[in-house]
Amino acid sequence: MIKITETLGMLTGIPQIDSEHIELIGLLNLINEYILTDKYRDQITTLIILFTTKLVRHCHTEEVLLVNSGCTSTVEHSLKHRDLVDKTITILENLNKHTCNDIAVLFEEMLREHIKIVDVPLFEEVRNELQKKKDKKVC
Ligand SMILES: [Fe+2]
Ligand SMILES: [Fe+2]
Repeated sequence: MIKITETLGMLTGIPQIDSEHIELIGLLNLINEYILTDKYRDQITTLIILFTTKLVRHCHTEEVLLVNSGCTSTVEHSLKHRDLVDKTITILENLNKHTCNDIAVLFEEMLREHIKIVDVPLFEEVRNELQKKKDKKVC
């Protein structure tokens, strides 16, 4: 079973973004746990729908923050979110065609990759930009 237990390299330093990432990872771990436990099998679809809803909400949080910070890669990042949500919906639509392990691997790779490779560097930059704006206001 794949279980994301450490958040090392997955924190942006922006509390709301980090707490939403942790919540999504927690849900993902729960989905993986349910996949392995036959008695909860019927609840997997519900959990994946919940995960998708939270993911859509989280993407919105990030996009609002990007717009507010004046980030130039907002559109590019939004397209990556669109791809992430589309992939999640595709997994949901094809649940019966995948093995449980496939589902776990797809989700884990997809989310970890986006957070570590895309979100963390981008939002570290955003955090620094927001801090600079804040510092200017103080002076
Ligand atoms: Fe994110
Ligand atoms: Fe993102």
